[in-house]
Amino acid sequence: MPLNATPLTPITLIIFGATGNLATTRLFPAIFHLYKDQYTPKDFRILGIARRELTNDAFRMLVRDVIKQYFGSSLKEQEWSSFASLIEYQQLDFSKRRDYDNLCTLIGRDDVKKPRSKLYYLAVAPEYYAAIFDHIEHCELPMRKKGVWTRVVIEKPFGTDFESAMQLNNRLQKIFHEDEIYRIDHYLGKETVQNILAFRFANGMFEPLWNHEFIDHVQMTVAEDDGVGARGAFYDKTGALRDVGQNHLLQLLAHIAMEKPKTLQPDDLRTARLDVLRKLKGGGPHVDDWVVSGQYDGYTREENIHPSSKTETFVSLKLFVDTPRWNDIPFYVRTGKKLARDVTEVSIQFRKPVQKFFGHADNDETNILTLRIQPDEGIALRLNVKRAGHGRDLQQVEMNYCYKHPSADGHEAYDTLLLDAMHGDQSLFPHLDEVMASWKFVTPMLGSRKTKRTVVLYPQGSWGPKEADELLVRDGRAWLTGALQVCDIHH
Ligand code: BG6
Repeated sequence: MPLNATPLTPITLIIFGATGNLATTRLFPAIFHLYKDQYTPKDFRILGIARRELTNDAFRMLVRDVIKQYFGSSLKEQEWSSFASLIEYQQLDFSKRRDYDNLCTLIGRDDVKKPRSKLYYLAVAPEYYAAIFDHIEHCELPMRKKGVWTRVVIEKPFGTDFESAMQLNNRLQKIFHEDEIYRIDHYLGKETVQNILAFRFANGMFEPLWNHEFIDHVQMTVAEDDGVGARGAFYDKTGALRDVGQNHLLQLLAHIAMEKPKTLQPDDLRTARLDVLRKLKGGGPHVDDWVVSGQYDGYTREENIHPSSKTETFVSLKLFVDTPRWNDIPFYVRTGKKLARDVTEVSIQFRKPVQKFFGHADNDETNILTLRIQPDEGIALRLNVKRAGHGRDLQQVEMNYCYKHPSADGHEAYDTLLLDAMHGDQSLFPHLDEVMASWKFVTPMLGSRKTKRTVVLYPQGSWGPKEADELLVRDGRAWLTGALQVCDIHH
């Protein structure tokens, strides 16, 4: 999809947590990329805020280093220096009222000449949200003027469970209206995730088959080969279920399971996703029957991880979508760190033909459709054909489509979403109701984690605990990751 190129009015982008992992690895490269390709407004200011004592120049150097790492030798000095001139830095202790007075003055500094729109980005740990809202409220509200807007982008996870998400929202809504709140889930900004809808609804041949009559089951894997790295302090409080399960994984599922949205307008897209999230149902009477949690061996020796931590770095679920389309078709989903490979994909296994009249097949006759979200992005379909030669045996073959460029002009999810937030397009940002519906489904699993379920250790580089395989084996099925080559055949 081409990025939105409509001209924008003057904007000040205010990033809380500007020296942190998210801002440095994702946000600044995205902002620079948008700037370089002239998507940002002509009149643009970036205000980085963090606890570290840094001068403007020192902060700019830090940003330069991350951008350099990202763009390498394609970074042009002239582009960098004009971008650097937009950046300012303000040191702030998130809980000190006095620090915010300086900040308010800085944010509002240019409003005297011409009112500017404000985009706040909270790239800090969730425990700082309340203090930030308490303090910016008194400077933000008086700055509101006709003809300009204020929006806030909040990172996932939005809250830590159903109750805390509700409280966070109540707090937020004292300052911002729902149409000013952008709850980010960057999976929605990925081209390959957006393409799920194009694939399903722009090809008349798939939609008639996309239901329990023709599909045996659906699988989703969001696997990473990396561990928690430098994010131990955040991760140990969060775990895989909150970090990826409640958001990226369930949103991916919503794209696969949704009914056709009425239109592609934001409200209709959000409603279509919400209708799925509201219908999620656990795969058995007891949470422990359909949820498997694991922790990779060596996790507790990582930096900033409690030595007796029980935080899960892997989670796998069997669940259902209680709609007429899906009836009793299971969805098996899993996500984890330090797994065998870095791969995010959805596989749909179709039912076998009713009547078997060909001879021997390589494996069995099921057709499988795999949508590879990343890396080696593409789509593969496993089909049966006659094995050449004498006889009537079958052979399985794969049809593959590989994206040449899975993103528009090299722009990635954060670029798309930041730009959408500047343009006021909320389509790819979950509505409060979506977030609450996923928490409603996930929260009981968190409760059970505290009480009885144990977290099973798994070896680094494996596919997680064997109990996650058993979720499928019990049903006579197996994980399909790696069954189709998708686009890794080219590497
Ligand atoms: C983030 C999680 O939201 O998504 C990380 O906090 C995870 O733990 C990341 O690594 C995965 O994103 P991507 O775009 O690399 O698949």
